[in-house]
Formats: sequence, C-alpha cells, structure tokens
Amino acid sequence: MKVIRVKDQVEGGVVAFELLQEELKAGAKVLGLATGSTPIEFYKQVVASDLDFSNLVSVNLDEYVGLGVESDQSYVYFMKEHLFDKKPFKVSYLPNGLAEDLDEEVARYNALLAENPVDFQILGIGRNGHIGFNEPGSSFDGLTRVVDLTPSTIEANSRFFEKAEDVPTQAISMGIASIMSAKTVVLMAYGESKAEAVHQMVQGPVTAEVPASILQNHANVYVIVDEEAASRLK
Ligand code: GLP
Repeated sequence: MKVIRVKDQVEGGVVAFELLQEELKAGAKVLGLATGSTPIEFYKQVVASDLDFSNLVSVNLDEYVGLGVESDQSYVYFMKEHLFDKKPFKVSYLPNGLAEDLDEEVARYNALLAENPVDFQILGIGRNGHIGFNEPGSSFDGLTRVVDLTPSTIEANSRFFEKAEDVPTQAISMGIASIMSAKTVVLMAYGESKAEAVHQMVQGPVTAEVPASILQNHANVYVIVDEEAASRLK
C-alpha cells in the first residue's frame, strides 16, 4: 500500500486525478466508481478536465435496494449529478436497485463485471472499514450480491436522508473479490471519523472484520489521506 498524505480533500482529489491520468495513458478502459462524500472533489477535477470518456466504460460499486434514479438519495442519481451528466461514458453500469428480481440483477452485474475487468477503481471507506457495501464479516471471495447494512452504516448514511427510518436497509454491492481484481485501486479517506478504519486497514491484521484490510494483499493500492484520517497511523 502506498499511503499518500494530503492537506485536504481538494488536494486529495487532485492527486487521485493525476493517478487516473497516468492509468489512462497506460491504456485504462474501465473505471470503477464510488459514491459518498469522499470522491466528490475527485469528480470535480475530472469534470473540469478536458478528458474524453466517450470510449470508456464505468462500473459502480453499489446501489441501495429500493432506490432508483427518481430518488435523489440513490447512487445512480449521485453519479449523474456529479459525473455522468457532465462527462458521459460510452456506457455506465450501476446495480439496479429497483430490479424486480434481485437474483437476476446480481447475475447480470457479475456477468458484466466479468466482461469489463476494472482497470482503475476509486474507493472510499466506511467508519467500520467497509468498502463498497461489504460490511465487517463479508467473505473475501464474495462477488456482487444483496447485502444487509449494519446499524453503524445506516446511522452514518442517515445524514443524507430526512430520517434514519428512510435509509434503505439493504444494498446490492460488488463483492470484495471483484474489487480485488481491479488493476489499480485508489482509496481516499478524509476526516477524524475515518482515522480508526484507516489505521486498521493499513496497519492492522488482514481480517474479514475490517474488509478494507484485504487491500494489504493487493499489488497496486494508493491510500490518499488527510491529516485527520492519518492521525492514528504509526
Ligand atoms: C457508503 C458507500 C461506500 C462509501 C462509504 C463512505 O456506505 N457504500 O462506497 O465509501 O459510504 O462514505 P463517505 O465517503 O460519504 O464517507
């Protein structure tokens, strides 16, 4: 893991953007994308650039079960607002949270991931060390599936909803094995609330209790952190 310390989220977005440019020069064709507050500055850099994504494919990590593009809390809405409406890709895939048959949707997503191996994966991290929506205890061998969200994740994400009861309790998430198969991974973390998760991910044991710790076994991971998120690193 290469830990890169930055002043703040804006500088982190610039660093992540520079890494993306290098990968694009090296031929990256499929970008793995994440939602949440963490990658927003990175997306601003991308949108402000003259990069052309019309020949690239994007695949997103996850989506809430029960939410679709009509809901401003859905991840498809987030992606359109922050990136896709401004920088369209050739094709952008997200799990469909409104799918009637979730098993079929999971199979569709796993098949399209197999056809579109990710070159460059953007990640945030949950306060409990989750990546995507792979909560503590998730198998390292997991592919895309329907997951139950933990109370801590529901609580953390409730800040985006009117009330905690409105936060969906399930999501469709790419699994850890899918995330690990990306050629390059760039994980960003900002703020004190991520400090313990960052410490465990970088310096703790590789354990399913901290899903992000598996990234210690990936050959090409960049961890971009501000001072607060890095505050418990020794
Ligand atoms: C959600 C997402 C993750 C994200 C995490 C952190 O649960 N599924 O992909 O990394 O929250 O979110 P934030 O960046 O808003 O702190």
